[in-house]
Amino acid sequence: MEIIIQPDAEAATSVAARLIARLLSEKPNAVIGLATGSTPLRLYQELVGMKLDWRQVTTFNLDEYVGISPQHPQSYHSFMWDNLFGHINISVKNVNIPDGLANDIPGFCASYERKIIAAGGIDLQVLGIGTDGHIGFNEPTSSLSSRTRIKTLTPQTRKDNARFFGSEAEVPHHCLTMGIGTIMEARQILLLAFGAGKAKAIAEAVEGPITARNPASILQMHPVTKVCLDPAAASKLELQEYYRWVYEHKPVWQQL
Ligand code: GLP
Repeated sequence: MEIIIQPDAEAATSVAARLIARLLSEKPNAVIGLATGSTPLRLYQELVGMKLDWRQVTTFNLDEYVGISPQHPQSYHSFMWDNLFGHINISVKNVNIPDGLANDIPGFCASYERKIIAAGGIDLQVLGIGTDGHIGFNEPTSSLSSRTRIKTLTPQTRKDNARFFGSEAEVPHHCLTMGIGTIMEARQILLLAFGAGKAKAIAEAVEGPITARNPASILQMHPVTKVCLDPAAASKLELQEYYRWVYEHKPVWQQL
């Protein structure tokens, strides 16, 4: 894992945006995995401002709530169109987001997996992290080799996400999410985390044991993972000074 601690969330986001811009210039038909939540909002704003060419890009979103329509203001469909897709020249047919209203949920999840493979696999997966270490909606104790499937949200995640809904009661109990095995097959992973609320989850994921208790800890096994942090999210990392030192001393050809 490469831990990139920047002076603030804006700077950490810029690193991530530059990485995605570089990928799109090297591979205009890249396949990108996208996340929702408050963390990537600034990233999407920055990408929109960069006016990149998305015409050949294919995207796969990590997850979606079960039981709410794509038009629901808090669906991840709405989130993505409001914050990114509606402002870039992506082709609608290349956008993939799990269908929270699928009748045959196992069948839909299997077809989502097949679609990712048919697209050539994910080149870069953007991730946020839950306060309990979840990635996508893979809550603690999710199988570390899981595939796209239905999951039950923890009470904590429903609490955390209640701020987007009118009340906690309105937060769905279930979701569809790419599995941890699915995420781990992405060629490159870019995890963003900002704020003190994420410090414990990040410290456990980066420096703790690999355990399904903190699903993000499996990223220690991924060969190309970058973790972009602000100082608050990095504050519980024991080796934070080392990570800063490494980043400052990167060979020129590796710099972002
Ligand atoms: C949500 C999403 C995750 C996201 C996480 C953190 O529940 N399913 O993909 O990374 O929780 O959200 P936020 O960025 O709002 O803190």
